[in-house]
Amino acid sequence: MRIAMIGTGYVGLVSGACFSEFGYHVTCVDKDERKIAALLAGKMPIYEPGLEDLVANNVRGGRLEFTTDLAGPVSGADAVFIAVGTPTDRRGEGYADLTYVFAAAEEVAQHLRDYTVVVTKSTVPVGTGRKVHKIISEKAPRADFDVASNPEFLREGAAINDFMRPDRVVVGAETDRARAVLRDLYRPLFLNETPILMSGLETAELTKYAANAFLATKITFINEIADLCEATGADVQEVARGIGLDGRIGKKFLHAGPGYGGSCFPKDTLALVAQGKDANAPQRIVETVVAVNDERKVQMANRIVAACDGSVRGKTIAVLGLTFKPNTDDMREAPSLDIVPALQKNGATVRAFDPEGMAEAKKHAELAGTVFCDNAYDTMQGADAIVILTEWNEFRSLDLARAKSLLRTPVLIDLRNIYRPEDVVAAGFSYTSVGRRPASPPKRPRSVSAVG
Ligand code: UGA
Repeated sequence: MRIAMIGTGYVGLVSGACFSEFGYHVTCVDKDERKIAALLAGKMPIYEPGLEDLVANNVRGGRLEFTTDLAGPVSGADAVFIAVGTPTDRRGEGYADLTYVFAAAEEVAQHLRDYTVVVTKSTVPVGTGRKVHKIISEKAPRADFDVASNPEFLREGAAINDFMRPDRVVVGAETDRARAVLRDLYRPLFLNETPILMSGLETAELTKYAANAFLATKITFINEIADLCEATGADVQEVARGIGLDGRIGKKFLHAGPGYGGSCFPKDTLALVAQGKDANAPQRIVETVVAVNDERKVQMANRIVAACDGSVRGKTIAVLGLTFKPNTDDMREAPSLDIVPALQKNGATVRAFDPEGMAEAKKHAELAGTVFCDNAYDTMQGADAIVILTEWNEFRSLDLARAKSLLRTPVLIDLRNIYRPEDVVAAGFSYTSVGRRPASPPKRPRSVSAVG
């Protein structure tokens, strides 16, 4: 089985490397010459745990190749995956920009030889598969091909595991031949009994959006419950556990925090809303989720200001974590991109550190003026408060005594709830987290008055 993977972004590179690990021959194609040159030199364009070794092993085994020219890989492939970007259209309204998908389809059409399945792996709006089919048919009327949809459900930071041990594989295909090719491709997963869901093109395309929108809704729901917990003295982590143990609800994606970010949820929720409008089937819940999540970031900046006695003017804030989540260097739609500028606008100096995201962070104009530091403790030098924005493991067990000695005032604002309030308060900090009751300062032993 030979695969051509068009696009070496997150999805294309991880999927390509994982398919080669299954034993197939994979050629990853990208127009970006610098990226391909770097990949050929063994350098990964993204930080993803385990990816570098996976790529190196399969390149060494002769199963994984990289090139800028799609002609050869496409003409020899059983399956061509289109895994190029589908960013939000710059004209606004949330539509996905399909320029790269359609351009890839046109180019693929020119090189198809024997029967090939052209698979869209990029997240594409309902109806895109049929448009891709039309483009290829018009460009290459005699080509022997089918179009299939095979959305991915990989999480950044856990992408390889998600590919190798998925909850399910979703395939939209409309001929037996196409279904057989896709089934063969995923045969290695039969061993661990992964459900392979076969459906029509539209169903597969919509399943992807519905999954991301549902997860974004779950996060937004628990974030609003966290607000109610704070107002009523309840504890959001206990509420999340209390509802999550109900099998119908499930424990995952119930961590309250500063709002979801990343390259997928923000873009895909907007695109689903736009599709709903077009189809006259408004997605009002998801519309609200988008608005509530946007507001959340502003609220988080206000929370930091409140924790600093109502003003950050002239104060220094030590920000730990800039990426939208841990184990990635991805800064796209990260809450830090809203929260840091809001603090600066309120007159604060921000000192920041992220274990993997510094290079990416420095490219973002929103973070201009930030003092980028070498490590967590370096951010704290003379700062008035620490803010945890991303739950990297190395921030989970800070030396609080050392932190206190570096800070001007011992204030910790933990927007990911990675500390136990009583521990932080016992270390002499004023502690603010999300959806949890503030811990009261440790009680002093009461002096016993002598009975005379
Ligand atoms: C998400 C989906 O989880 C993947 O299944 C999907 O394949 C991917 O989008 C995609 O469409 O490509 P990802 O964006 O990598 O994956 O990250 P998540 O782990 O889902 O986190 C997204 C955001 O939600 C992060 O900002 C994270 O901090 C936040 N989050 C997540 C919470 O605030 N609370 C939670 O309980 C879970």
